[in-house]
Amino acid sequence: MNPILTARGVYTTYDSVDVLTGVDIDVLPGKITCILGVNGAGKSTLIRSILRLTPPRVGAITFNGINLDRLKTHEIVRLGIGCIPEGRRIFGRMTVVENLHVGAYAERSSAKIRARLERVFQIFPRLKEREKQIAGTLSGGEQAMVSIGRGLMTDPQMLIIDEPSLGLSPLFVQENFNVIRDIAKTGVTVLLVEQNVNQTLAIADYGYVLLQGHVIVEGSADELGSNPDVQRAYFGGVK
Ligand SMILES: Nc1ncnc2c1ncn2[C@@H]1O[C@H](COP(=O)(O)OP(=O)(O)OP(=O)(O)O)[C@@H](O)[C@H]1O
Ligand SMILES: [Mg+2]
Repeated sequence: MNPILTARGVYTTYDSVDVLTGVDIDVLPGKITCILGVNGAGKSTLIRSILRLTPPRVGAITFNGINLDRLKTHEIVRLGIGCIPEGRRIFGRMTVVENLHVGAYAERSSAKIRARLERVFQIFPRLKEREKQIAGTLSGGEQAMVSIGRGLMTDPQMLIIDEPSLGLSPLFVQENFNVIRDIAKTGVTVLLVEQNVNQTLAIADYGYVLLQGHVIVEGSADELGSNPDVQRAYFGGVK
């Protein structure tokens, strides 16, 4: 199976300090690939590099065989990469349904937008019930649903999700993981950044562990789950 996304030798710099130091990853179509790692490991930077919000200094990233290095972020999104950013960034003063429509801004066909909205409401019936509610007044778990729903409104081939469970209660965290697994079952490729190692490995197919800007371990979710280096990466000690 050919990867849908590849990153090769990616170095990304902030203020002339390399935060990513030669990252290689492959994301297979239809699978859930996870990026694990402690705070500051470079996970969000890798996502920013893929979307060219912070373009890499060197290295190549391809999506469906297309080199992304000359593209702007909105052009990359148009190729079929949806993103749910860290911190959710919902529009607090807009209603649920208005937030969802933002995700489909590039789509002209109102029939397509309606169909996507229906799909989001099928996944999150709670959002249908609350479609007119001002998003800022939703619970944290409901805001997470809006953020994932908005990501799906672009009808992406691949969805990048950065720490969806951050700040959620354990019940919502599990619900979120279930939703991500369900989305992947519909054929959407998922690149998932997370700190909840065990819950992530329970739904992922393959994963990479980042430490200080490079991949220290990779493998199938089963392999990573039983790899002592993975546990140690979280409790310190692996260099
Ligand atoms: N805009 C920026 N300017 C300078 N340094 C930055 C910037 N963004 C991130 N960094 C630094 O780059 C490193 C990697 O940050 P990054 O946000 O990618 O980590 P992360 O793995 O996503 O961490 P977390 O789990 O806390 O979200 C950190 O040391 C961080 O301080
Ligand atoms: Mg991050």
